[in-house]
Formats: sequence, C-alpha cells, structure tokens
Amino acid sequence: MRQKIVAGNWKMNLCFEEAEELVEELIDLLEDVELKADVIICPPFPYLEMASDYAQEELFNIGAQNISPFEAGAYTGEVSASMLKSMGVTHCIIGHSERRKYFNEDDKMLTAKVNQALMHDVTPIFCVGESLPEREAEKHFEVVRRQVRHGLFHLDTGEFSKVIIAYEPVWAIGTGITASPAQAAEMHAYIRSLIAERYDDQVAGQTLILYGGSCTAKNAAELFAQPGVDGGLVGGASLKAEEFVEICKLAI
Ligand code: 13P
Repeated sequence: MRQKIVAGNWKMNLCFEEAEELVEELIDLLEDVELKADVIICPPFPYLEMASDYAQEELFNIGAQNISPFEAGAYTGEVSASMLKSMGVTHCIIGHSERRKYFNEDDKMLTAKVNQALMHDVTPIFCVGESLPEREAEKHFEVVRRQVRHGLFHLDTGEFSKVIIAYEPVWAIGTGITASPAQAAEMHAYIRSLIAERYDDQVAGQTLILYGGSCTAKNAAELFAQPGVDGGLVGGASLKAEEFVEICKLAI
C-alpha cells in the first residue's frame, strides 16, 4: 500500500501574520483528526522557519517551493538544499509549471535541482503536466513522457525511489477546471508504465504520484479514489485551513 500524501502549495501568498495564523489554524484542526494521509505544507521561503518550528508537533512536514541547482557560494538570491535541510525542510516542489513558464526552468536546471535535493536528503515533489494546446493536440502523453524522462530518469533506482511525482495539467491549475477522474487515472497509469519500463514493476508500484490542479474539498474524494492517484498537490484550497484539512481527510 502506498502512503497517501496531501501537500499544500501556498505559492506567493500571505503576509507573515496571515501565514502564522494559517499554520495555527491547521494545527488546531489537525490535532482533532486521525488522518491516513501524510500532510506537507509548502509556504514561501521567509515563512519556512516559522512553519518548521510548528512542525515539531509532528502534524505535518515542511516543503519548500524552490531550491537552488547549485551547492553553495556566490549565487545571489538562491537558497540551497543544505540550507533547507538545516531548517527542517523535508520536501521541495521542483519543476512546477509556473517555474518552468515564468522563470524559464528547463530540463537541465530541473535535473540539477533534483540532484541537489536528493544529495541533501530533501524529497523532490517533481511536477509534470501538459498545457491546454498540448492536450488539445493530443500531445499530453508525449509531453509528460519527456518531462519525466529528462527530469528524473538519470537517477539510479535507489535515488528514484525517493522521488514523489505530481501530475498537474497546466490547464487545471488555478482555473477551477480539474482533470476528470478518468483523465487523472489515465495519466497516472501512463507515468507508472514509464517508470516500469525504465526501472521495474516494483519501483513503479511504489512510486507516489499526486494529482494537482483545482483540487477542492468537493472534487478530491473522487480524484483520490482513482487507482494510481496517491493524494494531491493543492494550491488555492491550501490557503484555507478548513478546506485543506477536509481535503486531507479525503485521502484514504
Ligand atoms: P490550484 O489548486 O490553485 O489549481 O493549484 C494547483 C497547483 O499548482 C499546486 O502546485
């Protein structure tokens, strides 16, 4: 049985006070429930320390939204994997479509980020997903295959086993349009088949693949119930404590 995971990607939202309030609300709510899923919250960099202090209560893990492809040194503005690790960060989102699009992160850079994360024992949550024109042109499998191959398939079996994948169709992010449960199941099965081809059935069967894109308390149950969907990477709805915890409860 694969462990279910629900991760909240806060993106570039909230001031410090609001962020702390959200963490406190999450703790209050999470203390009262028995969850099947592991919870990860991914606040912006400046709030990681605060969130990490609260994570001592062991109700959630902390993920970063970005990581440097470099080890250390003269890289103004960058935050390294070892810095994240030293602050109690356990996970990091890598290859999010927003970073691919707005910050020109290409396969080579993403590979370097994945390597840095793994070298410092930070679990990559590696995002893949096609745009709307790509899906309309029926290129979605090809696009995702390229992203998974170029971003991850240089890893050996031991390294790859530490990676979490998130399928986030770009057209579903922040749009209120989710992939249908069937579309999500189909792509998750496809990703798993690629992993089986590159590694083996056992590795494919153990890899955690999350769904992301307009996940809410209304649609999460059906999405998470699909075979091969191991939970979610939640954006907008992770900024509302009650809804986020509702979503966490639906990952069973
Ligand atoms: P939304 O849930 O806001 O669509 O965002 C999804 C996402 O990009 C999570 O990384």
